[in-house]
Amino acid sequence: MKNVVVHASTSYEVVIGSGASALIGEKLKELGRTGKVLIVSDSNVAPLYAEGVADELVYHGFEPTIFTFDAGEESKNLSTYGDVLAFLAEEGFTRTDTVLALGGGVVGDLAGFAAATYMRGIHFINMPTSLLAAIDSSVGGKTAVDMPQGKNLVGAFYQPELVLFDTDFMKTLPYDEIRNGLGEGVKYAVLEGGEIFSILDAGLTSENLEDFIALSVDAKRRIVEADEKEGGQRKLLNLGHTVAHAVETLTEFVVPHGVAVAYGVRVMARLAYERGELSEEDFYKIEELLLGNDLALELNPVEELIPYFSADKKKAGQVLTLVTIAGIGDCRLTNVNVEDLPRYFEGA
Ligand SMILES: NC(=O)c1ccc[n+]([C@@H]2O[C@H](COP(=O)([O-])OP(=O)(O)OC[C@H]3O[C@@H](n4cnc5c(N)ncnc54)[C@H](O)[C@@H]3O)[C@@H](O)[C@H]2O)c1
Repeated sequence: MKNVVVHASTSYEVVIGSGASALIGEKLKELGRTGKVLIVSDSNVAPLYAEGVADELVYHGFEPTIFTFDAGEESKNLSTYGDVLAFLAEEGFTRTDTVLALGGGVVGDLAGFAAATYMRGIHFINMPTSLLAAIDSSVGGKTAVDMPQGKNLVGAFYQPELVLFDTDFMKTLPYDEIRNGLGEGVKYAVLEGGEIFSILDAGLTSENLEDFIALSVDAKRRIVEADEKEGGQRKLLNLGHTVAHAVETLTEFVVPHGVAVAYGVRVMARLAYERGELSEEDFYKIEELLLGNDLALELNPVEELIPYFSADKKKAGQVLTLVTIAGIGDCRLTNVNVEDLPRYFEGA
């Protein structure tokens, strides 16, 4: 079992390991929680794990209820969010009660936003079940739902009080979802270098999974602690995301987020290499990493993507902040005028 403690505007523990879900009751008690717990989950995850979590909670004297919605990004919207709020109100939840997200990033983002806003904020626990949620979305306090006008358009910064990831959950995660999580993993590998890069380069296994997740969470912890509200350094976590969001928009989300991020990292590496900012050695190491993780994809050509870059939330006025790669473990924020983007991306 591994622990990472995040000291953001509030402090919380991230527990990672085989059998960690069995700790939920005692951990909640340690936090001083009592009463009702709404377990928010989706139609794939709830049948697998919700009863087990509910039983642990009952054993420790809590009153759990399960709220399930249809799995998939299409459910991360204002309508499902409204359903969760209505359910909380109908069931008489108060500010001393708790919302517990049990699922991937979709469940975590939506349940977190409901917890952040119901009665101006009730207790929130995140139990990620996908690789992507474990290494990325469950930590850092970004919660949101999508709108027809854009992804994650409405949300709040709201830190969980505890994150519990049971690595046994990975046994039921389909291959495509593991690959999707590895896309965000590649982002951490290039941002951080070192052991995260080495683990992914050698290939993720059940033996190194716990270490890999703990190292990724720790990397995110450091960045979030330095810049919780994304005024500066946290923007580094957007490596690959400007390209990824354009791919997602163009393909109407047929290409999953993590896979799109991996392509974004590939484009940014190729760009940096072509511009002479990234060494040949590091460029080929990144290519090998992508290849070894089944993520060396060629998606939409960059010229097709550039018009969609300006819709990115990383844009302020006419300037877009890109995360550029100067080396493995050395990424930087680079401002580019929107009108210069076609020239800047030449050769990528
Ligand atoms: N808040 C943040 O900081 C942050 C960061 C990155 C991504 N995100 C968000 O995360 C979302 C993507 O997350 P995701 O990839 O986890 O998607 P997801 O929640 O849709 O999960 C992917 C699929 O895997 C299934 N699943 C999850 N765990 C499972 C398990 N253990 N066994 C079997 N099936 C399982 C889900 O039901 C779903 O079908 C996006 O909405 C993205 O915007 C948020």
